[in-house]
Amino acid sequence: MLSQTHIDTVKATIPVLASAGTAITEHFYNRMFTHNPELKDVFNMSHQATGRQPAALFNAIAAYATHIDNLEVLTGAVMRIAHKHTSFNIQADQYAIVGHHLIETLRELLGDAFTPAIEEAWGAAYQQLADIFIQIEGDLYKANAAKNGGWEGFRKFRVAKKQTESELVTSFTFVPVDGGNVVDFLPGQYLGIKVHPNNHEFDEIRQYSLSTAANGQSYRISVKRELGDVKNGVVSNYLHDSIEEGDEVELMPPAGDFHYQERQRPVVLISAGVGLTPMNAMLDTLSQGSQNSIFYLHACRNPQQHSFAEHVAGLTETLNLTHYTWLEHGAPENAERVLAGQMQLGQISEILPLAEGDFYLCGPVGFMMFIKEQLLGLGVSDDRIHYEVFGPHQSF
Ligand SMILES: Cc1cc2nc3c(=O)[nH]c(=O)nc-3n(C[C@H](O)[C@H](O)[C@H](O)COP(=O)(O)OP(=O)(O)OC[C@H]3O[C@@H](n4cnc5c(N)ncnc54)[C@H](O)[C@@H]3O)c2cc1C
Ligand code: HEM
Repeated sequence: MLSQTHIDTVKATIPVLASAGTAITEHFYNRMFTHNPELKDVFNMSHQATGRQPAALFNAIAAYATHIDNLEVLTGAVMRIAHKHTSFNIQADQYAIVGHHLIETLRELLGDAFTPAIEEAWGAAYQQLADIFIQIEGDLYKANAAKNGGWEGFRKFRVAKKQTESELVTSFTFVPVDGGNVVDFLPGQYLGIKVHPNNHEFDEIRQYSLSTAANGQSYRISVKRELGDVKNGVVSNYLHDSIEEGDEVELMPPAGDFHYQERQRPVVLISAGVGLTPMNAMLDTLSQGSQNSIFYLHACRNPQQHSFAEHVAGLTETLNLTHYTWLEHGAPENAERVLAGQMQLGQISEILPLAEGDFYLCGPVGFMMFIKEQLLGLGVSDDRIHYEVFGPHQSF
């Protein structure tokens, strides 16, 4: 239990932590991976190379310290992180390892300023947060295991189908090796996949949104090949190049707090690039019986990279669906509902349910910020805008 002294002490150290910035989390990760190299099989080592995860953890700790006396503010963030953790199969005993390296990092970086009182306060504060995550994650694991087709830990799946969707995106359909059912998910959720790429030192775990409706028998994901200037993406290229029908991978049950919510009001799904995967799962689910008015707006670089184009067009037969596509390059002239250039909602704002609709966004962060700004400018309220980041979460 945290005392008022603990709370005051943690709050008093925030300026010191802020001045050290991400140096703390970088030092922390270096320390942890040196002493506990087995955790390299758990963390995304490319995120370590690019610095994305150190920033996410630092922001979480800074937010926690700031709101330590009013943790309700953090409920949404805690649930999101807990869902993400479960897709990595994070276990209760690993919190002690992380806590130990966090305290030792503060000692090493703060030197004499790290007094016994600060050590005690941060130890207690970390334990309080760890206990919250351990409880929520334990409940999620148990709930998944108890459902029809559910399981706990990584489960072996076989690739039943590998299908090219466009120049850069390939879909993989997985069925359990044990022949059992699979647990249902909410459209928009993702699963964790573990692979060991050829000639790679570690196991790698990544998240992929389910890209079609739940069916109780199999899961489908659709993966974009990530090509980088410095280094190509490890897992996406491995899946594209080396995983074939009949091969095995390991999956965690579906997770994630970004999903379609039935509210009996119009829905606007907006995606860019491979951000269309959760939208496709929502569309396929809605096509099983929704009377709602649905809008699907997609932005794409060119026609060669446009996945699921025909599939979405076909859904207009079963859904009350209006769809528009913006192509940056190669937009055919006079094509119906295809616009050239970047997505400008002003071009179609008179048909959008701006006053009452729910808006779901997925795509690169820059794209989502651009669209959110447009939506706010058109009068859409913030609480009706939901989004998923395909990486460590960022608030905007
Ligand atoms: C909730 C969620 C849902 C997702 N859904 C999907 C989905 O449906 N479809 C999909 O395709 N993706 C999805 N993703 C993204 C996916 O999880 C992976 O992040 C993506 O496939 C890239 O993984 P990778 O291993 O190929 O790249 P990584 O190896 O993780 O590299 C990531 C990026 O960093 C670059 N990079 C790697 N190493 C270095 C280095 N040393 N220096 C500089 N740059 C480097 C790579 O070029 C790449 O662009 C989702 C992510 C999340 C969190
Ligand atoms: C109280 C302690 C912890 C806090 C505050 C915390 C916080 C976070 C945050 C903010 C993220 C980013 C979430 C996102 O993608 O949006 C994250 C991801 C992650 N966490 Fe934790 N975490 C904690 C404990 C742990 C533990 C004990 C482990 C296991 C050793 C762990 C493993 C991971 C992994 C593997 C990721 C994903 C990393 C990536 O995508 O690069 N975390 N955590």
